[in-house]
Amino acid sequence: MALQSLHYTNGQFEVLDQLLLPHEIKYVTIKNCEDGWNVIKRMQVRGAPLIGIVAALSLAVELRAMTFESTDHLFEHVTKQLEYLVTSRPTAVNISEVNDQLLAKLLADVLSKKLSLKEIQERVITEAEAYELADVNINMTLARHGAEHILARYQGQSVRILTHCNTGSLATAGYGTALGVVRYLHEQKRLERCFCTETRPYNQGSRLTAFELVHDKIPGTLICDSMASVLMKEQNISAVVVGADRVVANGDTANKIGTYQLAVAAKYHKVPFYVAAPGTSIDVNLSSGDEIEIEERPSSEMTAINGVAIAAPGIDCWNPAFDVTPAELITGGIITELGVLAPSQLEDKFTTKDREKKM
Ligand code: MRU
Repeated sequence: MALQSLHYTNGQFEVLDQLLLPHEIKYVTIKNCEDGWNVIKRMQVRGAPLIGIVAALSLAVELRAMTFESTDHLFEHVTKQLEYLVTSRPTAVNISEVNDQLLAKLLADVLSKKLSLKEIQERVITEAEAYELADVNINMTLARHGAEHILARYQGQSVRILTHCNTGSLATAGYGTALGVVRYLHEQKRLERCFCTETRPYNQGSRLTAFELVHDKIPGTLICDSMASVLMKEQNISAVVVGADRVVANGDTANKIGTYQLAVAAKYHKVPFYVAAPGTSIDVNLSSGDEIEIEERPSSEMTAINGVAIAAPGIDCWNPAFDVTPAELITGGIITELGVLAPSQLEDKFTTKDREKKM
């Protein structure tokens, strides 16, 4: 059975508590935006696409249980709740994307005055619910583009991929982005092996990616983050493929801390470096990576694992959750649902208003 980061049916919504993995599979019920905000903030769900979807579905379940006095009342409520959800985690653009898209559509419906209050409410719910299925379709398309691009580079021979963090079914509504590329290569019998980093300090690699690889019987090898350079030197890595929390107009990419050093090492070892990013993670409103807000997480994530201290008490810590890889180090390309792009193509392809036209 495929791993499911969430279940959403007939207005019943639950998410897999990823803090308990790999020891326990337990789902948490989400009844409203506050529940959604909490599971995102505590990182019970994480991964840029997934947090956008969880935000949208939290709003959908909440709206299903509410009645409004007027369209103004509905509009005010949706605006307030979306603004609140955006505050849960700052670096990934996906929740802001959901915010912008839902509000623009809601505003157009309100202004057109063609629909009743009930119909408008129903449309916001339907739009919010649509993110789940759309994400799976986008991931499958981008995974195919990425895999074909990598295979073309190696004349169709089997490849060895290094990835970082978790970008699979557990970071999305299904299939995955960078890990989707790995999954697609495996389905085509063109994956020799996927190496995944532990991804300190939160261990998304060892807890989640390793779990997915084992679960889906994809040949995988776990390495510590500090082994990446020697892996590239000695283990014939065909490509590094990572995900993204925010790709900005010039191609600079925020992703899990440690991505930048992988890109530097890949450049030195002449290993192509790819970023896999759905359009929902592309933000052409920012022009360079310097403008991206980087979330800093509590030092307890570095100094303890499951409450057991692993660092000297009293040591000072710096714990940025993400770093920015400059576009010039993304030597393979940016894998999207519209194809594998060079940074210079992003602005044209992902100007929000024409995105649907260009697909
Ligand atoms: O802190 P996290 O676990 O939410 O960070 C996740 C990552 O950095 C992923 O690489 C990124 O969100 C892409 S997930 C398809």
